Amino acid sequence: MGSHHVMGMLLGTEEDWSGAFEAIVRRYRPQIVYGGEEHTFETDRITIEPFNLRAQPRYALVIDRLAHWYYVPREWLKKAALMDDVYLLNNPFTFQSMEKHSAYCAMMRLGLKVPETWMLPTKTPVENERFPYTASRYNRQFRLEDIAGRVGYPLFMKPFDGGAWVGVTRITNDRELHKRYDESGERLMHLQASVENFDVFARTLSIGAETMVMNYDPGRPLHERYQVSHGFLTAEMGREVITISRLVNAFFLWEFNSCEVIVKGSEAYPIDYANACPDMSLISLHYYFPWAIKALLKWCLYCATTGRRMAIDPDTRRYFDIGDRTDLSYGEKLGRYHRLANDHFEIDGYNEFCSQHLGHLDEAMVEYIESPEFDRLLVDTVRSTFPPHEHDRYVAHYRGLLGAWATDQHTLQNAPRVKGDG
Ligand SMILES: Nc1ncnc2c1ncn2[C@@H]1O[C@H](COP(=O)(O)OP(=O)(O)O)[C@@H](O)[C@H]1O
Ligand SMILES: [Mg+2]
Repeated sequence: MGSHHVMGMLLGTEEDWSGAFEAIVRRYRPQIVYGGEEHTFETDRITIEPFNLRAQPRYALVIDRLAHWYYVPREWLKKAALMDDVYLLNNPFTFQSMEKHSAYCAMMRLGLKVPETWMLPTKTPVENERFPYTASRYNRQFRLEDIAGRVGYPLFMKPFDGGAWVGVTRITNDRELHKRYDESGERLMHLQASVENFDVFARTLSIGAETMVMNYDPGRPLHERYQVSHGFLTAEMGREVITISRLVNAFFLWEFNSCEVIVKGSEAYPIDYANACPDMSLISLHYYFPWAIKALLKWCLYCATTGRRMAIDPDTRRYFDIGDRTDLSYGEKLGRYHRLANDHFEIDGYNEFCSQHLGHLDEAMVEYIESPEFDRLLVDTVRSTFPPHEHDRYVAHYRGLLGAWATDQHTLQNAPRVKGDG
């Protein structure tokens, strides 16, 4: 008896992580004996075409990088979720109904330290013939500077459903505030208190049961934001940031997401954590890229092999029941969320599965990163990203960073293992 699982990818323009993912599956050729069956896997790039709603897709699982802006695949994903139990990273229902704004609301209720945030009515009137009457009757006049006064300067104006820094501005006075509001047009905007003079900007990338916490410098150009550094948070703060990331994902049923937390003193302020299509590019992740590819593969293999079911409806009540309690401190609530989130992601089962069935994947990944095949991907990616006169410099730069990752892995693999090392 055997089960063959096709892992589909819905892709836009990206060739880097998808190429690496295909390469590692080809090289590692996962073959897992689980539940008395042999499981084998292949990857496939999904094409866009007319589809019968009753047609059965051949995919066990789909990694979606497209449906946040392209709606045919989004509707295909919904059909695949509702009719065929295809496992989706991510479930489009949750991202369509829950954007940044909802994510702020829910996490505020759970007690997270989201900075003070207000929503403004759109600057441009809504295009609808009923609007003039409705607005004249029900829209309350307001003074923009009064709202800014409640939030306090400096503040950020940003789209309620934002992404990729589009329309995000830091504002320090009334004049600028009016100018930016005028420019916002039809977009619904938040005003959010700025966290100033922070110690660390932590950005996490979560893929299923795994979360990488990275030191992020938002002031630098895109390809220099992730810093290769360790120990930039205390162990306690590191746990808090991981718990926040995992909680967000478990609550909203997101499996592939990034989370930005600004750390100032002993406080962690989450500011951006609803990213349906988190940054996976080799250019920005560099040193962390192999980790991301490996985590993605491990989670896909785990879900497909064990038959983990994707939930379609979030179970918000269990979290609110904790968040609403007045007798629990922030730390106590986090402890409980941590347990709920760990259960949701089956952290223990996942870790056991990986150590039992995915031995040698670590080595296979190092081998791949050190191979000419990966080097070609690296060179192609650099060439398609930077202008010609910078190619040599950046090829050397990225070879250095990826080489450093491989060297660190050799050190880890040769280190004597202690029990519980995982
Ligand atoms: N409340 C805030 N305090 C400090 N910096 C912020 C705040 N909100 C946004 N920023 C800065 O603006 C950037 C973009 O805002 P963000 O909410 O992450 O939008 P997007 O969803 O477009 O990435 C952040 O990476 C951060 O550098
Ligand atoms: Mg952001």
